[in-house]
This record gives sequence, structure tokens and C-alpha cells, in this order.
Amino acid sequence: MPTLLQVNSSLYSGDGQSTRLADQLVARWRASHPGARVIVRDLARDPVPHLDAATFNAFRTPATELTPAQARAVAYSDALIDELRQADTLVLALPLYNFGVPSTLKAWFDHIARAGATFRYTADGPVGLLPGKTVYVAAARGGRYAGTGTDHQAPFVRQLLGFLGMEDVHFVYAEGLALDAAARDQALAEAAAEVERLVGVARSAA
Ligand SMILES: Cc1cc2nc3c(=O)[nH]c(=O)nc-3n(C[C@H](O)[C@H](O)[C@H](O)COP(=O)(O)O)c2cc1C
Repeated sequence: MPTLLQVNSSLYSGDGQSTRLADQLVARWRASHPGARVIVRDLARDPVPHLDAATFNAFRTPATELTPAQARAVAYSDALIDELRQADTLVLALPLYNFGVPSTLKAWFDHIARAGATFRYTADGPVGLLPGKTVYVAAARGGRYAGTGTDHQAPFVRQLLGFLGMEDVHFVYAEGLALDAAARDQALAEAAAEVERLVGVARSAA
């Protein structure tokens, strides 16, 4: 069964502009995938803890040697990775906070990027172990940065996803949301049109 994982990271949870844009995208995707499964992870409601030394050391400890506390830390990370593995489509709702990704999303990344689980090192360099997924990123920003040297967020997200094997990544931007009402309305209309172009029923029927 097609499965989509939506990861929200707006501090406003379902009211965030990035969440709303991701919701639009998921609604269009659902329309062309009847009966598909959609999993929603809201990192504001259900935050992933910061990665600390105890957890990182647990990741590197052989399964047979784990203490009960380490086993719990590994099981939590395993569950996040399993949820992602099940999904053939990933939708990231991506607010821009202080020029970067929300710290909640970074904590999620830190728990799913695990050597031996989602990537491995080889003589030829690292290999991502999560290939074959389609990723949509619904990016909401107060200002405008896409495609310029001041956008440090999208390249980081693309690099991290690629490192884990996710190369088919599509960004939808709603930018300039803090400029004025006209700019915001235009940005949201353009983003909605881009969602339609990427995942609208017409495209999937083609
Ligand atoms: C804590 C915080 C930091 C922000 N930092 C930036 C920023 O660095 N650049 C920018 O263009 N907009 C910034 N904004 C505006 C957000 O990108 C904008 O409100 C966007 O809609 C956030 O997505 P959300 O509504 O899904 O939370 C910031 C907003 C907040 C709340």
C-alpha cells in the first residue's frame, strides 16, 4: 500500500504556514492515491529530544551489550527510522527559523541519520540506505531566499536527504510571507499552483 509520512515542524503545529502548505500537498496526493496510508508526525506536539552523548554512544554499542536505558534510546530511534522506511513518499513541512531548520526537525534528523541503519561508509564513501523515496518539501519563509546564496536551509536539507539516499526531492516555496498582505497572498497562491503542478490529479493521471 502506498504510504506517505508527513513531518511537521512549525512551532504553530497545524496552524503553521508550512504545515498548511504540506496539508494541501498531502490532500492532493491522497486524491490520486485512494486508500493510501498517511502517517503524520508533528514535532511541536511530540518533540524528539536533542541528541546527547548517552544516546549517540548507545547507537554505537552492539545490541548484545546495551544497558536497559541504552536499549530504550535505540528502540526510540529505530521506531522513527521504521516509520520513515515504511513511507515511499515523505513530505517535510519546513519553516525557516533563524536562517535554518527548526531545532525540532534537526533533532529528528539527528535520530534518523544513523551509521549502519540509514547510511553506511564504504571504501568509495558514504552510501545512503533509504533510496527510492519521493520527497516533497513545503518551505515557508518570512523573506525571500530561494535560489540565492543566502539560502542555507534548502541546500542543507537536500544534502542531508541525499546522504541518506533520498535524491528525488521537490521543494515548494511560500516565500515573502512576512513582507505584506499582498506579497503573502501571492506567495501562497503561487505555492498552491506549484503543489497542483507537482502532485495534482491531472499529473498523476498522465
Ligand atoms: C522563531 C522564528 C524565526 C524566524 N526566522 C526567520 C528567518 O530567519 N528568515 C525568514 O525569512 N523568516 C523567518 N521567520 C518567519 C518564518 O519563516 C515564517 O513565519 C514562516 O511562515 C514560518 O513557517 P510556519 O508558519 O510553518 O511556522 C521566523 C519566524 C519565527 C517564528
